[in-house]
Amino acid sequence: MALAIETEQPIPFARTVITARARQAASRVMASGWVTTGPEVVAFEKDFAQWVGAQHAVGVASCTAAIEISLRALELAPGSRVLTSTITFCGAIHAIIHAGHIPVLADVDPVTLMPNADTIAAALGRGVDAMVVTHYGGHGAPVMELAAAARLPLSRVVEDAAHALGTTIGARRVGSISGATCFSFYATKNLPIGEGGMITTDDARIASLSRTLRIHGMSGDAWKRYMPGASWRYDVTEDGIKANMTDVQAAIGRVHLKSLASWQRRREELAAHYDTGLSFVRGIVPPPHPAEGRHAWHLYVIKVKPEFGVTRDKLISALTAQGIHCSVHFIPNHLQPYFRRFIARGSDFSAADAAFREIVSLPFYHSLTTREIDRVCAAIAEIGAFSRVTTTTPTPAFRW
Ligand SMILES: Cc1ncc(COP(=O)(O)O)c(C=O)c1O
Repeated sequence: MALAIETEQPIPFARTVITARARQAASRVMASGWVTTGPEVVAFEKDFAQWVGAQHAVGVASCTAAIEISLRALELAPGSRVLTSTITFCGAIHAIIHAGHIPVLADVDPVTLMPNADTIAAALGRGVDAMVVTHYGGHGAPVMELAAAARLPLSRVVEDAAHALGTTIGARRVGSISGATCFSFYATKNLPIGEGGMITTDDARIASLSRTLRIHGMSGDAWKRYMPGASWRYDVTEDGIKANMTDVQAAIGRVHLKSLASWQRRREELAAHYDTGLSFVRGIVPPPHPAEGRHAWHLYVIKVKPEFGVTRDKLISALTAQGIHCSVHFIPNHLQPYFRRFIARGSDFSAADAAFREIVSLPFYHSLTTREIDRVCAAIAEIGAFSRVTTTTPTPAFRW
């Protein structure tokens, strides 16, 4: 007789769900005879602009490309100084460099892990020409206040909303507040396609330039040149890149967009469930909630304080040993060897350095179950409690 052994399934850090309807839509495009940029991208751009409340949306290959293209579309002088947070994805810093500019990194607020007016003022040096504001984890950054601190008009701000699809600042959805807003459809994001990005803006010139820049700087609607009856002629009018979105990506995105509001509500419920589950665990600080507006809950980032009794790295190892997979967002960019050349002498990143020792991103996605969250919280509580007991009464049964 076979023995039924109950084992716990691993809880991955991310789980990408491409729904059955989205798969059908992608198959329909693949069978259509046209798979790259085309009518699906145009339709997705229209639906997306409406969802975020912006006048224009431009589909691109990734959020990284969206940031580079947006900065190019601001038409800054080459070598302009562009301020951004040291706690962001490295691709956002590369985008500034690839757009021909110099990244100026700012330290963060110890609570929100985003720059605040003070850290921006401290990083300004001889001033900056533009700024990339990241809504870290989906927590809305006060874009207007930060622009004022950087002494910039909103038209010189690009928002990195890779985490912020669904975030509101007050009652307003992120998407049309600054010059351009950049979204990601990477596999782990709130609206997963696999890869892809979107620029949204109310500025018709930024939209039209972005359309040209995403496809080698070729004159507008270059993708139409293979359509029946279209002309094969084109002009190269800008220093563009190859970063267009495909119709296969757009077909998936359009279908997923219909579910986004309910996925976002689920993320809110799951974040509240984590908050409750962790509220009893000594030395674990759950992520802050915004004073007003909606959090998109892309990430659920806890801080591991000394009172927990176990370091951040040991907590991650112990959770991994139990099949619970975590991540860290992000290694501060001033610590990255390539970016060190851009750091001004005497720069202060003490809040980011301190936070980096403590942060852990727990598993978080709309298909996560409350039972899985209970398991993660129980495991964290047990690891902390066990360590506090073992530091007074050593035991050979220590788990890691
Ligand atoms: C804050 C932030 N910005 C930009 C990006 C880049 O997004 P993409 O992978 O779509 O280029 C990411 C990706 O993880 C991110 O987390």
